[in-house]
Amino acid sequence: MIEPSLSDDHSSKQFFAHSSAVVDDNVQVGLNTKIWHFSHILSGTHIGDNCNIGQNVVIGPNVSVGDRCKIQNNVSVYNGVTIEDGVFCGPSMVFTNVYNPRAEIPRMDQMRSTLVKKGTTIGANATILCGTTLGKYSFIGAGAVVLKNVPDYALMVGNPAVQKGWICVCGVQLSFDTNETVCKDCRRLYQKIRPDQIIEIKR
Ligand SMILES: CC(C)(COP(=O)(O)OP(=O)(O)OC[C@H]1O[C@@H](n2cnc3c(N)ncnc32)[C@H](O)[C@@H]1OP(=O)(O)O)[C@@H](O)C(=O)NCCC(=O)NCCS
Ligand SMILES: [Zn+2]
Repeated sequence: MIEPSLSDDHSSKQFFAHSSAVVDDNVQVGLNTKIWHFSHILSGTHIGDNCNIGQNVVIGPNVSVGDRCKIQNNVSVYNGVTIEDGVFCGPSMVFTNVYNPRAEIPRMDQMRSTLVKKGTTIGANATILCGTTLGKYSFIGAGAVVLKNVPDYALMVGNPAVQKGWICVCGVQLSFDTNETVCKDCRRLYQKIRPDQIIEIKR
């Protein structure tokens, strides 16, 4: 059981873990991160600064979570999943790590990894098939089932997930009449450099 303050076993920094949470040995948790009720962080896991780990979340073993991530209630982040900075994992979304599991055939040596790049949002109840990469600032709609790689800034919805459009860092959809567009909400500028690729232009 971890007290809200520093424990020598876990990190040289201050973080909060509710008394019902279990943080195994050999776990690093960053400054100001909060771990709420009944969550379990397994050995070899690194969680960055300023994260919020909700209720009944399992992370690890050997998982890396970046800074400023929000992992909502009932999410399991398995071995093989890597989460970069600023990622939002909506409530009860599901990662997977074995493609074709059978209870009677051991396949943990055939795990496929999943990479969630910075700024991505994964909506409530979405499922991410293993072996996929979610591009930076992509947005996975609630309940989507993602079967393949997702481009940066893509909005994906449905089962199987299909791309509905492009979405800004701020979470508002972009519309392209030409190869360039400005977000109507935050005024960030984007360029479509290929039909399936957009980039943000820094002013
Ligand atoms: C994606 C989302 C942000 C809506 O974005 P938007 O830019 O307003 O998009 P729209 O509502 O205009 O929808 C665009 C299209 O995608 C469809 N769509 C949007 N969200 C969808 C979803 N989750 N599942 C299936 N289709 C969806 C719409 O029906 C619409 O389809 P159409 O073009 O055929 O009419 C929202 O639907 C969503 O899923 N949010 C996630 C909420 C969540 O999980 N929060 C977790 C914290 S509580
Ligand atoms: Zn914007």
